[in-house]
Order: sequence, then structure tokens, then C-alpha cells
Amino acid sequence: MKNSVLNSPYKVGDITLRNRIVMAPLTRGRADNDENVATKLIAEYYRQRATAGLIISEGSQISPMGVGYVNTPGIYSKEQTHAWKQVTEAVHEEGGKIFIQLWHVGRLSHPYFLNGKLPLAPSAINPHHSIRTPEGNKMSVLPKEMSVREIKEVVREFGLAASNAIEAGFDGVEIHSSNGYLLHQFFAPCSNFRTDEYGGTMKNRTRIMFEVLDQMKMYIPENRIGLRLNPSSHDYHGLTIDKETLPTFDYMIERLNDYDLAYLHLSEPFTDVSNVAFAEPNIAIRYRKIYNGTLMINKGFTVETGNQIIEDGIADLVAFGVPFIANPDLVYRMKTGATLSLPDKSTYYTTGSKGYTDYAELD
Ligand code: PHB
Repeated sequence: MKNSVLNSPYKVGDITLRNRIVMAPLTRGRADNDENVATKLIAEYYRQRATAGLIISEGSQISPMGVGYVNTPGIYSKEQTHAWKQVTEAVHEEGGKIFIQLWHVGRLSHPYFLNGKLPLAPSAINPHHSIRTPEGNKMSVLPKEMSVREIKEVVREFGLAASNAIEAGFDGVEIHSSNGYLLHQFFAPCSNFRTDEYGGTMKNRTRIMFEVLDQMKMYIPENRIGLRLNPSSHDYHGLTIDKETLPTFDYMIERLNDYDLAYLHLSEPFTDVSNVAFAEPNIAIRYRKIYNGTLMINKGFTVETGNQIIEDGIADLVAFGVPFIANPDLVYRMKTGATLSLPDKSTYYTTGSKGYTDYAELD
């Protein structure tokens, strides 16, 4: 891959990435148990992977109500903001770049994580999804329909989290507006029955996301904000595709041209949509035609298919998730054609260094 396009530099806003291989956000559950802060171990993990052109951190909750998994880090408190500094410093020492993914899981939480409170959602509709807790899997509950005041509060929390991210030394932020989490729950008619200005029309269902963007712009330049969308996964994290889905994403992505974002991060379908009515199996191809800015694509790419999609002009950056788990030196392996190590799934969400920072490096 020595002279391949994946291995060529790329400018995102005013930041030059040394290659187009992005480490995709991966939940790994190694944050400190009590305060949800990043640890020395987490800093080491990202340091090992800093040869990526860009690292996007694991999803990090913007509010105590945004958490839905065990030991995920937050970015809403002073302690959390401070703790992230060891991570950004480690990555920068290695010459890498790192954005933090800002996350609110909405109805995909459980009272277990919320001191007994009900998860927040656009409407009181149970996703009927299994939630991983330290006490084992629990079924999701009927969430609380958010008041307009609560929606405004979440918008404010996204802004504050972006401000904290800058203080913590991140190069930028990625808004997690996909995969069935809170913002995506607003976009989808199956999880949003609201009749006020946040429900009904495409404009109303996507309103919260533009409010989040506009709020963040008060704290961070637009070209330091990335946005992640997953337009075409069916029966994934409690959301389904219907005839509104693609027109809604088309509308939203067209409007994103009014912003000078760092990038738009799209996922190809996470689930088989070959027989799903209204689903689009080729997300990058569809949205390359609609979106004028930097397009990052993810899901199941290899060095060959990643190079191909960039050479074909369909994407600018390729995000790799699972391959980065067992290959901290993934960039080196892709450059040299070395065999990739396979990850141990049983340690994806456990504690400690096993299956986290103990994968071998070849370079
Ligand atoms: C997961 O931990 O399973 C997970 C987290 C965030 C995502 C998708 C999956 O966006």
C-alpha cells in the first residue's frame, strides 16, 4: 500500500491528517467505574493506535442521562474533562489527531444506569432492546417523553460537551447522531410520535440535530465538528426503515451543505437490507451525490475496498473499527501487507488490559 490513496495525507478543515485511515469509534468499557473518567490505560490504548490519520474516540456521554453501557467515559464534568487530557496528550505526543465522539443514548439506556430514573426519548415508545448491564442483559423500559425544556437542555449539554472537549485538548468532536441513539430516535418516525416542533415533518424530526450543531458552533469552529449518520440499517438498536427514512436523510444531508463541517461520517448498512423495502444498500454512492464536503465511510472495509472507494472518488476517508482492536499498528500492517491479527470478542467489554492494550505490534 506504500503509495496508495489510503496512505496519502488529507486535509480536514485546517488539520492535516497523515493518512486517510481513521480509527472508528469503539465502545470498550474501560473507564473508571465511579466517575466515568478516562484512565491511564485508555491513554495507552489510544497512544498505541495514534498512527491512524485520525482517531475518533469511543462514544462519550454528554450527560449523566446519556449513558447506556458499562464504564463508558463522560465529558460533562470537570473531572472527566481533566482526565481526557492524558489521552489527547498521549495521541499528540505520537503525532496523531483525535476527535471525541459525543453521545446520548436516549431510550437505549436503563434505570440501572440512571439512578432509577427513566431513560429520555422523543416519545414514550419502548425500543424492546436488550441492554448490557453489569447484572447481565436487561430488557429496555418504556422511556419518558422529553419535554421541550428537556430537549433544550440536551442541546445545551452537547454545546458544553464540545466546550469541554476543546479544553481537554481534542482536535475536534463527532456528534453521534446514528445507530438508534437519541438524535437518531428523533429522526425516525417509529420512535418519534411527537406533534410539536420536534415531530411530524422531516424538518421537525431533524430540528434537534441542527440545534445541536448551531449550539456547538458557539464553542468550536464548524470545521472541527464531524457528524455521524447511519441511514440504512434495519431492525438495528430498535429502529426500522420505512418510506420516510431515505427522504429524511436526503433532506438532512442536503442541508448539511450549509455547514462547513470537518466531515460527514456515514455507515453502510449494519444489517442485511437486500430485501428491505425502501432501504439503500449503497450509502456512500447515494450521498456523495448530495453532500459537497468531506465524506468518511465505515463498515466492513478492507485495505483493498478502502483504497478502491477513495480511488473511485466515492469517499475521502475510510474508518476501520474492528481491525483496530487487535492491530494497534493497523496503518503499518496495511502499508506492508502484513497479516491482520484477529480480536478476542470475549474481551471487547471487559476490564483491564487483557484484549485491550496487549495486542502485539509488528513495527
Ligand atoms: C455497542 O457498544 O454495541 C455500540 C455502541 C455504540 C454504537 C454502536 C454499538 O454506535
